[in-house]
Order: sequence, then C-alpha cells, then structure tokens
Amino acid sequence: MNLKGRNFLTLKDFSPEEIAYLLDLAAALKAEKKQGKTGNRLRGKNIALIFEKTSTRTRCAFTVGCVDEGGHPEYLGSNDIQLGAKETIEDTARVLGRMFDGIEFRGFEHSKVEKLAQYAGVPVWNGLTDDYHPTQILADFLTIREVFGTLKGIHLVFIGDGRNNMANSLMIGSGKMGLHFTIIAPKALWPGQELVDLCRGYAAESGGSISITEDRDAVAGADAIYTDVWCSMGEESKAAERVALLSPYQVNEALMKKTGKESTIFMHCLPAVRGNEVTHEVLESPQSVVFDEAENRMHTIKAVMVATLGNEE
Ligand code: CP
Ligand code: NVA
Repeated sequence: MNLKGRNFLTLKDFSPEEIAYLLDLAAALKAEKKQGKTGNRLRGKNIALIFEKTSTRTRCAFTVGCVDEGGHPEYLGSNDIQLGAKETIEDTARVLGRMFDGIEFRGFEHSKVEKLAQYAGVPVWNGLTDDYHPTQILADFLTIREVFGTLKGIHLVFIGDGRNNMANSLMIGSGKMGLHFTIIAPKALWPGQELVDLCRGYAAESGGSISITEDRDAVAGADAIYTDVWCSMGEESKAAERVALLSPYQVNEALMKKTGKESTIFMHCLPAVRGNEVTHEVLESPQSVVFDEAENRMHTIKAVMVATLGNEE
C-alpha cells in the first residue's frame, strides 16, 4: 500500500483497505514502542503544527509521534502566524510548503484545511475542523479492534450532538468499515442528509448500516456507546440551549444498562465535561476505554505521518 504524498483531510478520501492499512501500521508502531523501540522513518522531516483551536491530545500526539521517528515538529499557534488574517491562506500554505515536509491544521472552517492542502504542495493532515475529526476515528477504531478483534459488524452508538465533527466522522468511518452505526440525538441536532446519504452508500458496500433516531432505547445491543461534548470549540455561546436539548441524552449508568450487555464499552474522544454528556461514574467505570483511545491518538497519528511522508515503513 502506498499513501506517500497523500493529504489526510477526511476518511471520505480513503478506501476501506487504506484505512485498514493505517490501523495495521499503527498497531505495529504501537507494538514497537511498547518494546522500547522507536524509528527513523521521519528523519530529516520538518512538520508544521498549526492550531487555531486549543488541543492536548492532538498536539501532543503529533509532537511525540514525530519526534519518536526522528522528525522535527514546530508548533504554530493562532497568535504566532498570519494565517488568513494578515496573509491569505494560499500564501501561507505556499511559504510553509517551501520549508516544511508536512503540515497539520486544526481550526474552524473545513474549507481552510482544503485550501492549505491545495496550495502547500506537501501532505496536509486535518487535526480537527468544525466538520470533521478524522485522526480521532483511527484511534477509536484501533481501540475497538483491540477490544473486539474486529470492526465489521460492531454496533457503535453515538449519543449527543449528532451533527458535530465527531458524529460526522464516526459515521463516515463506520460506513467505510462495515460497522452498524446509530446516532441518537434530538432532531434539531441530526447530521446533514447529504452526508447521511453518502455514508449509507459506503455502508451498502461494506455490509454496515447507518441509522438516526431520537429514541434512547436504540442503545439496546450496543457494543460501544460513544459521546462527545455538547458544545464543541467555537460554540460556547450555545451552552444553555444545548444543556436543555441534550440533558435527556446523558450517558449514565441507567443508559449503559439499557444496552442489555455487560460487555458494552464507553468511548469519548475527550476532553469530557463530567456531569453533562457523561457522568463521572461511567467515565471512571471498568467499561470506559477513554484513556486507551487517547493513547491510540499517538500511535495512529504517527502511522498517518509515516504512511504519507515516511522514509520507509
Ligand atoms: N480528542 C482530541 O482531539 O483532543 P484535543 O482537543 O485535546 O486534541
Ligand atoms: N467536538 C469536539 C471534539 C474535541 C476533540 C470539539 O470540536 O470541540
């Protein structure tokens, strides 16, 4: 499999085989690291890390993943560079592309990361936009594979803000990889119909399925329950409205019991607001795999950099 030179903007652009390859590579890199081995696959590579929004996991995963493989990461926060304010994105992209070998971007409009990719001339990786968070999906799917040994046929339920970047990206990934994916959310927060139709097309190919409902009883039979913050970065002004809409959709012990399975795992991309989308008890329960997901951000992001930019595999 050769992904050299490819951008990583959304999983729409990747085939199921390519996604499986990235997960296999991440698992291999993780096994190496557990044996105390790191590599030189990014030796001589300079990586720009652009963050318009804050980050703990994504920033640290890119930094540690890059250094582990002998590369050099450079953090560029929103107050550090001109991106889109004093200088056009097209110009910044071409300048950074002359100096760096790869660029990570986290920010608001998805069109910005697309423009960067169009003009930079080097691989651009999406570290989260308002619409998508594709590197998170790789970490989540590696975690699901570690627990259940497979992705195909797994029943994954996302409950909460059903139209945010996580719901969108989980739906794309699930459609591609043959999971049975359910979004449980109030109608006002359902994902866009165009994206749902696209993902149903993927699911028809992979043997998966996509369903959207307001009914919390739809957690029955779930292998994994996933939630995310009710207000994503940039939506802070909607806090009161979201609490009112989403309080009935909190993941608590009663909801976990509704699955009818003791083996159901709890997932969250983090950061979490305990007492809102999830209770402290569920987050800290033995069913919670949230810190495995967080660790897997590093192994999977390293795999994306190595696959698209690495000297060897
Ligand atoms: N899950 C995630 O992307 O976390 P950060 O916002 O801390 O990067
Ligand atoms: N939906 C959240 C994800 C954070 C990792 C946000 O965009 O803030």
